[in-house]
Amino acid sequence: MVNHIKTELEKLRKEINYHNERYYVLSAPEISDYEYDQLINRLKELESQHPELITPDSPSQRVGGRPVTSFDSYQFKRQMLSLDNTYSEDDLREWDRRCQKLAINRSYSFVAELKIDGLSISAMYEDSLLIRGVTRGDGEVGDVVTENIRTIRSIPLRLPEKPKFPLSSKNIQIVENDSLPLFASIENLEDDESLWPKAVQEIEVRGEVFMSNTSFRKINQEQEEKGLARYANPRNLASGTMKLLDSQVVATRKLDFFSYDLYFDGEKPFETHWQALEWLRAAGFNVNEHSQICENIDEVIKFCREWDEKRNHLDYETDGVVIKINQIALQEDFGSTTKFPRWAVAFKYPPRQAETKVNAITIQVGRTGALTPVAELTPVLLAGTTVSRASLHNEDEIIRLGLKIGDWVMVEKSGEIIPKVVKVLVDKRLENGADLEDFSMPKNCPVCGGLVVRPVGEAVSRCTNESCNAKLKEALLHFSSRDAMQIDELGEKIVEQLVDKKLVSDLAGLYYLKLSDLLSLERVGKKSAQNLLDQIEQSKKRELSELITGLGIRHVGERKARVLANHFGSLNKLILASREELTDIFEIGNTVATAIFNWFSLESNREIINKLHQAGVNFEQATSSTVAKIFAGKQFVLTGKLITFTREEAQKLIEERGGRVNSSVSKKTDYVVAGSDAGSKLEKAQTLGITILDESLFREMLDLK
Ligand code: IVH
Repeated sequence: MVNHIKTELEKLRKEINYHNERYYVLSAPEISDYEYDQLINRLKELESQHPELITPDSPSQRVGGRPVTSFDSYQFKRQMLSLDNTYSEDDLREWDRRCQKLAINRSYSFVAELKIDGLSISAMYEDSLLIRGVTRGDGEVGDVVTENIRTIRSIPLRLPEKPKFPLSSKNIQIVENDSLPLFASIENLEDDESLWPKAVQEIEVRGEVFMSNTSFRKINQEQEEKGLARYANPRNLASGTMKLLDSQVVATRKLDFFSYDLYFDGEKPFETHWQALEWLRAAGFNVNEHSQICENIDEVIKFCREWDEKRNHLDYETDGVVIKINQIALQEDFGSTTKFPRWAVAFKYPPRQAETKVNAITIQVGRTGALTPVAELTPVLLAGTTVSRASLHNEDEIIRLGLKIGDWVMVEKSGEIIPKVVKVLVDKRLENGADLEDFSMPKNCPVCGGLVVRPVGEAVSRCTNESCNAKLKEALLHFSSRDAMQIDELGEKIVEQLVDKKLVSDLAGLYYLKLSDLLSLERVGKKSAQNLLDQIEQSKKRELSELITGLGIRHVGERKARVLANHFGSLNKLILASREELTDIFEIGNTVATAIFNWFSLESNREIINKLHQAGVNFEQATSSTVAKIFAGKQFVLTGKLITFTREEAQKLIEERGGRVNSSVSKKTDYVVAGSDAGSKLEKAQTLGITILDESLFREMLDLK
């Protein structure tokens, strides 16, 4: 019996680890979040029945352990150095000249890596198991934060038995070194198990813990919905999170990790830094994909110039480029000063800040009725875009900044799409002769005139009118967003008109729109109107958790929605749940339970639910399908005549695999499946450079050869 459970546990852990890597390291998930949760739930269920079978590397151990009261200290065997900064191309050339002197005629290359704006940590492994995670601290002594590190899914809990080497690393040459008996020169690593360092006692991996901009924005949005203060930037939130004593909270924050340094028993094991990066990748760590070998300083400078712009499009913050001498023998020769290595340097980008004037402060009303003050700025160029507005978040923030209308301010872009005001340039008041005006929160909603209140203890002021148009517009955009019902065609402009023309008066109203309604809108042609209707129709089949997310209940984001969908299995059961029943669910606290209960108690909301039901929107949790979601998030268009399936069959096959079928080709289309006699859609796909699949390729993708 126990043997049989053991086997199932092993299989589950393997499967979960595989999907973790697909998701967190390769960014190419194969299954939906829902299916992933099912695997985790099964694992937890089995482990709670058989606690003796819990292993330290089980994925269940990533959810956080018991809170601690303080962190132990750890003295590094090999100091965690910081980097000297350079700010100009001349500085970089000067550093290269110093390297040339130190290299005494030996040639070298560089590795240029993005400088990730997070906090550095060290992860230590013994017998392949993660045994310790330590923050950099002062470089000599750091805090032991193992439980926190364990929650980061891009840090393996166990190193694989046999590394999966990419083809490009075939030519890695391992240092022949007496202190590392296992590392003879190895030509083909792919099948060579001896490369796995069984004789090494401790493997140490260093790198940067960071938070993606997407996670950062989500957390700030949640803070805002809870009426709490926002976090300043992803780096502060990541480093604050790493210092939390309760790793269960850390687990909810979705930290990520890029590795860039490797030691076997305190020594660098390879001839080049690049090889260490390849080893790390093969061992299952996340290594930044933009790292590059540069043959000379000109190539380094080119890399730095290119990334000054390109970094604006990444989903994490970078504050520069780190340049390292690739040859380890030279690194060891160059050595370090007390603080910095001589073989590496940071090239820092100037902060993405700009000075401009606040001409007015306007108010935006959100989906929950929150009133957000927005600074209207004299347009200024910042991080590659012209900025003319900045969020001021709430009244307290304006007081904290000491901001008045007419002030000059410093705006900054960091993690947010909309930049924020970081400080008032008080000196400029004097320079420009002050003509300033105080800001005060309006007593009435600027959109509907409803009463505005600021609940005691909250930072946010809200419009109290349930049928405020601004709330409805935001609610519709949220309902149709990617995390919810995925009605991409429902843009801001259309929502504006639908609400203003009273064509939609609540969320469910979308399902009662007719073609003629849409055609009456400005700048909506027949094609896009039909597309929108098709998408609305398809959204009826979304998963229950996506529908719950879409309802926009306060405190219920994507994650909580999944918990609720998994627990109740149908919307009708959730509607009937009492407050107690809700608080009994793990992960649903009092505040959330009350918000859910209150939402479903409102007559107007019940009416929305009825209308959604009558329209045929799915209220049930799908039983987990066995088909892998290989097309998750992908958009298809079918055109021409298919021979081996009908259109409907093809559509079903795509949708079962998580994809979506649209009626017309646009920039967002991922694949066009073209049968015989395909016409204009095929042509359009060709001009847009979209991948075109003929029927046999499509069958291959479906694994139906
Ligand atoms: S190498 C001895 N590589 O920048 C070399 N550091 O300002 C030590 N950082 O403390 C660091 N990205 O926290 C290195 N690709 C990268 C990095 C990186 C970010 C951080 C790290 C370091 C700080 C120095």
